[in-house]
Amino acid sequence: MDLSSKSKLSRLIGCQLTSLTYICLALVTMVLFLRAVLLHSFSGYGVIEWNNLDLILSHSLLLNSHDEGIRRDKYLEVPQIVWGLNNQKIAFARACLTARMLNRTLLMPSLSASLFYKEIDRLQPISFDKVFQFDKFNSLCKGFVQLGRYSDLMNQTGIYDLQKGSGRKWTVERDMEHLKQSSRGHVDEHEVIRIVGKNPFLWHDHWPVEDYARVFECLVLVDEISKEADKVVSKIRQIGKKHRSKTEMIQSDFDANTESSSTATAPYIAVHMRVEIDWMIHCKKLEQRSGVNQICSSKQEIIERVGNIVSSESPTVVYLAVADSLLNDSSILSGWKKGLLPFEKKKLGVDGIYKKHPYLIQSAIDYEVCSRADIFVGNSFSTFSSLVVLERTQKMKRMGITRSCDIDVRWPSYAYNILGESNGPQKWMTNMSDSTLQAISYGSNAITC
Ligand SMILES: *[C@@H]1O[C@H](CO)[C@@H](O)[C@H](O)[C@H]1NC(C)=O
Ligand SMILES: *[C@@H]1O[C@H](CO)[C@@H](O)[C@H](O)[C@H]1NC(C)=O
Ligand SMILES: *[C@@H]1O[C@H](CO)[C@@H](O)[C@H](O)[C@H]1NC(C)=O
Ligand SMILES: *[C@@H]1O[C@H](CO)[C@@H](O)[C@H](O)[C@H]1NC(C)=O
Repeated sequence: MDLSSKSKLSRLIGCQLTSLTYICLALVTMVLFLRAVLLHSFSGYGVIEWNNLDLILSHSLLLNSHDEGIRRDKYLEVPQIVWGLNNQKIAFARACLTARMLNRTLLMPSLSASLFYKEIDRLQPISFDKVFQFDKFNSLCKGFVQLGRYSDLMNQTGIYDLQKGSGRKWTVERDMEHLKQSSRGHVDEHEVIRIVGKNPFLWHDHWPVEDYARVFECLVLVDEISKEADKVVSKIRQIGKKHRSKTEMIQSDFDANTESSSTATAPYIAVHMRVEIDWMIHCKKLEQRSGVNQICSSKQEIIERVGNIVSSESPTVVYLAVADSLLNDSSILSGWKKGLLPFEKKKLGVDGIYKKHPYLIQSAIDYEVCSRADIFVGNSFSTFSSLVVLERTQKMKRMGITRSCDIDVRWPSYAYNILGESNGPQKWMTNMSDSTLQAISYGSNAITC
């Protein structure tokens, strides 16, 4: 190699190094920028919208898929997934993780559109891909878990029916051993293993919180439903904006030219308010049985504690995610601190959007509205609240924020059933390194902070 080509080479390398440095610098800058925005306190309000963040995050999700693949010619079939939205999500993730353990693709299961616990014939099966995006799921979860369609089957071998055991003697260890046996030998030769018996929510659990979180992240609502959620969120923000500009007009009449920053994005608080009769009966029983007195919160307690979160005087909409039975109960709309403007779907005028859909979809819309809220307040004993907080914590974690208890973050969550500082609700974050989902998602007041 002569001198000139050597120097050309080194120039080339130098050049590549420089552009690599630029890329690194750009990445670092982006991360720092996002962190700065995320760490904004409540009065600061960053400009990033939840949706844009989703975009950024789904890219980072794709980058770190270091998992080995899942076989595409062996399948697992599970019974119809039933009960409430969050029980269905957990059951679905459990089915996915079972398929992963067997190194099989999960045949796309049926969810249930309605909430009938006992009457099996009224469960209204609804295909998974009517609620969540099928291809998006597979691309986000690539290498970790996979969904397949019945039309992919070759039907060369018979189906193997795997009966889940039950009863006191069917321990977690035994269940695990049973699954392990099914992952080899003659059982594994079958194209399809079909689990018969109980629905996946009732199976023994073998997986850490992180694995569940990984599956939940791949669940993206179909456009038709997420657009409905967009409508509700923008209605909430519009109302907030209107009230804010009114206040600002009075405050800064003389300074008419300044476009106020707080009207650009009107933040809102979502409260998952569980005070309906059924819940109250359930939670009183739970308190008696467990000897814990932090489960039930009255209307007054919730209203008072939420009022102690924000110090800002700017009008802020509080979206109340409540059971339909409370929509005619005007007492949940009164008694709020000055500056907090309580709305439920009826007062907001969006109940028509909800009414068009079956129970499962209504619940999915409310879940979105709560997840995207600037501040979320829920009950740590509710699965719905717990999964909302898990999703919010996971987003923070993806942005590099692992502890948000003691600092101001962009999307804080609180548990109103636990008393925190200055008579407010306690800050709430999911412990992602917990070994079981149960510890963080149902029947628990472990909220890390
Ligand atoms: C599944 O099986 C394939 C092929 O045998 C292997 O390459 C892959 O690592 C396995 N994946 C898991 C998650 O065990
Ligand atoms: C196997 O059966 C499924 C459903 O029963 C069907 O959709 C699929 O096309 C069949 N596969 C082949 C290769 O015939
Ligand atoms: C609320 O009240 C309206 C009329 O006042 C009634 O038509 C509706 O059924 C009630 N809804 C609930 C959930 O009680
Ligand atoms: C999170 O859970 C792990 C495992 O159970 C535990 O060791 C750890 O102390 C928990 N962290 C917090 C902050 O509670």
